[in-house]
Amino acid sequence: MNILLTGGLGFIGSHTATVLAAEGHEVVIIDNLCNSQRQTLDSLESITGKELPFYEGDVRDAPLLKEILQKHHIECVIHFAGLKSVAESGTDPLKYFDNNVGGSIVLIEAMQATNVKKLIFSSSATVYGEPQYLPYDEDHPLAPMNVYGRTKLQVEEILQDLSKSDLDWSIVCLRYFNPIGAHESGLIGELPQGIPNNLMPYICQVVSGKLPHLNVFGDDYDTKDGTGERDYIHVMDLADGHAAALEFVDKHKGWEAVNLGTGIAYSVYDLVSAFEKSSNQTIPKVVKERRIGDLPIYYAKADKALVMLGWKAKRDLQSMCDSSWKYQEQLLKLAK
Ligand code: NAD
Ligand code: WQD
Repeated sequence: MNILLTGGLGFIGSHTATVLAAEGHEVVIIDNLCNSQRQTLDSLESITGKELPFYEGDVRDAPLLKEILQKHHIECVIHFAGLKSVAESGTDPLKYFDNNVGGSIVLIEAMQATNVKKLIFSSSATVYGEPQYLPYDEDHPLAPMNVYGRTKLQVEEILQDLSKSDLDWSIVCLRYFNPIGAHESGLIGELPQGIPNNLMPYICQVVSGKLPHLNVFGDDYDTKDGTGERDYIHVMDLADGHAAALEFVDKHKGWEAVNLGTGIAYSVYDLVSAFEKSSNQTIPKVVKERRIGDLPIYYAKADKALVMLGWKAKRDLQSMCDSSWKYQEQLLKLAK
């Protein structure tokens, strides 16, 4: 299939591009590089052995989108492009609504105008909010606790309404849990700008000597070791999940939301131990106050993905840490 990846040079988009290209799909990328680097395209081309058409542009640019959709005979769009900092979404909500919701509307209108009606949308487990029960299944009430999560829920709702108004649409919203890890080549991975907000990239910077220690946000939760527990999922498993969703949207119409998680929760200390094993280094840590807005524990019920998409996460926590470490080592070599 001819597939447009918006935000395709970002963390999840770039890993998905490798899987789709390997499956023989024609991958076209649009990214405004607000949170990614052009060099990722070179890495993608060396991994895939293919030249991937790339447009440096914004999903809010309707004429550009229409041009790309038509020129490349796009059949399906995977919409990764979005801003993802929970903290920044609280301090600059309009930026998030404009980019994440406004950007999605411009994209959907361009797709409608060019008769491209297959879409996979990057949603998030954050749409569920405070757990009423665990694991979260897709029928769990939706009550995001931050602006970022509300932008994701709004787009999901817009897409659901659209699919009701025009039965030709085929839409899957993938609710990712906590993606970490990197491509097995060590050539691409997660490269946040500035000081990372999230656990794995923060650990990577501690191990690389860029930050002195890990701040553990709370060790007094009602969890197995007192630290927060999350459903970490290998980004290559997530990439495989997109390939499975692509097959699904090709054959079915309507709207679906599907969790992509492993169904297993690991604590901050579990991740630290696994990363220490991968890197053969001790990670200094300092216990701090709980981070505002953090939940003690959440994880996915991943049954729908297996039944509907035939997809299941295969890689374990050690493999997530090993691949992240391999990518870090590659970055350290390049910096020398
Ligand atoms: P990322 O920031 O690495 O990738 C997003 C990409 O989109 C970046 O390359 C950025 O430059 C680009 N982009 C942003 N706004 C754009 C715009 N208006 N026009 C064109 N390009 C634009 O993030 P990621 O981790 O790869 O996440 C991809 C998607 O998945 C996002 O929508 C994110 O909200 C969602 N998501 C991520 C996580 C996570 O923990 N990483 C979890 C759940 C959902
Ligand atoms: C994981 C655990 C922290 C950093 C976020 C978004 C969510 C989704 C994924 C996009 C928690 C602890 C963290 C640190 C720590 N993104 N931690 N020290 O908060 O589960 O999810 O990313 O959709 O919407 O909210 O991920 O990696 O920030 O935190 O102790 O320096 O690690 O308290 O228990 P989170 P995270």
